[in-house]
Amino acid sequence: MKRIDIITIFPEYFAPLQLSLIGKAQEKGLLEVNTVKLRDFAPAPHHSVDDTPYGGGAGMVMKPDVLALAIDSVLREDSLLIFTSPAGVKFTQSLAHQLKGDDFAHIVFICGRFEGYDARVVEHYREQLGEARVWEVSIGDYVLNGGEVAVLVMIEAISRLIPGVVGNPESLVEESHELEENGQTLLEYPSYTRPADFKGLSVPEVLLSGNHKAISDWRKQQSMRRSSVV
Ligand code: 6GU
Repeated sequence: MKRIDIITIFPEYFAPLQLSLIGKAQEKGLLEVNTVKLRDFAPAPHHSVDDTPYGGGAGMVMKPDVLALAIDSVLREDSLLIFTSPAGVKFTQSLAHQLKGDDFAHIVFICGRFEGYDARVVEHYREQLGEARVWEVSIGDYVLNGGEVAVLVMIEAISRLIPGVVGNPESLVEESHELEENGQTLLEYPSYTRPADFKGLSVPEVLLSGNHKAISDWRKQQSMRRSSVV
């Protein structure tokens, strides 16, 4: 079973993981997601998780000592640490496939807030666990207030690839970013269902033909057009 721990100052962000397919996957024992409240590791009386940056400047930096206590509370020998950061490597479908497997049975997501982490946290865990077990990951070229939403995105993309999470595994095969032509990933072809006439718009004739070869050729061509391959 895959275990995911999420270190965050806002555990409430992760309530939706109890819903839908990921909620069911947890009930079925395919996946276990746990949140760790960072503030629980910040010393009284102030319970501060951040402080002003050395060298000055705007914003606050997450304190390395508090983060390390939270990380160490869940760390295992086989853990992969993923620090969310707009400066990280880009999260892709290919990364989701890597992360779904048993090579990464324990993933710890650390949600950045404020202006980011004290850089020594990443350095410390790279020394302790090795470069390969400490990643900084971004979900795209824009800035979020914190890593929480990014972690929801990554957990959804990863967990739906775990066998048994999505009811019909065949539905995973012909999706955007899964189709491929000469090494380039393609977008999904357009889909249609009843009624045959919708506001004067009809369904492409070939899809009503019952000719499986013609349908598959048409879908391939549509995928390539959408992806600007042809
Ligand atoms: Cl992972 N974190 C933040 N704060 N902003 C982002 C991001 C992550 N990915 C894209 N923008």
